[in-house]
Amino acid sequence: MSEKKAFPEHVAIIMDGNGRWAKRRGFPRSAGHLAGAKNISRVVEAAMKAGVKMLTVYAFSTENWKRPEAEVTFLMHLIPRFCNRMLKKMMENGIRLRTIGRANDLPEFARKVLLDTIEATKNNTAFTLNVALSYGGRAEITDAVNAILNDPNRPQGALTEADVAKYLYAPDMPDPDLMIRTSGELRLSNFMLWELSYAELYVTQTHWPDFDAAALQEALDAYAGRNRRFGEVK
Ligand code: IPE
Ligand code: IPE
Ligand code: MG
Repeated sequence: MSEKKAFPEHVAIIMDGNGRWAKRRGFPRSAGHLAGAKNISRVVEAAMKAGVKMLTVYAFSTENWKRPEAEVTFLMHLIPRFCNRMLKKMMENGIRLRTIGRANDLPEFARKVLLDTIEATKNNTAFTLNVALSYGGRAEITDAVNAILNDPNRPQGALTEADVAKYLYAPDMPDPDLMIRTSGELRLSNFMLWELSYAELYVTQTHWPDFDAAALQEALDAYAGRNRRFGEVK
């Protein structure tokens, strides 16, 4: 864990700024969300070309349920549209789709296509696209604690950090090395509170629908110049 890696294996992205992107163009917020969903495919392609192995994208938070009903409904309908549009590309390029979050909160029409797409791509190994949906960092830790309490085979005695990590949503995925937030806000907004504890942070003013291969490369270059000390003296 202490050696310097110039390259992030796992990149996490808070895909923010769809609304501001739309507003700047005089479009409704939904147009920003549509452009944002389409942009995921472009960034996956760029990440694969750059050698990144996995990408976790924050698509809908546990707090986003508080948005106007019409916006939430539009976002929920983007899930099957995205899955159907991406399936061919994912099969051709060896991309495995996963999700983290409270999938049971999603409407049935969205959950079904999501789970079918996850199943269809489960043996793909070239790249992992992990989409955080109805995801909250505190919800994840709370769900882990409840899973531990309900597990008859849980480790006995005091739990270690590694024990706790086994009950998170994607325990087999390594922690993100780099966390990118688009659109300028300097906060985590309840994203991956456990997993990001030692990630390198990168914030760009670029709104998510405009975040392209060159923007990703800038973030990767910034990462390459970081000195990850993990609390040690080097
Ligand atoms: C991110 O864009 C997408 C979601 C949170 C679903 P926003 O919708 O938050 O866009 P801004 O922040 O209002 O510009
Ligand atoms: C974070 O963006 C959630 C996602 C990108 C899905 P928000 O736009 O919801 O976050 P806040 O409201 O600025 O904290
Ligand atoms: Mg936002």
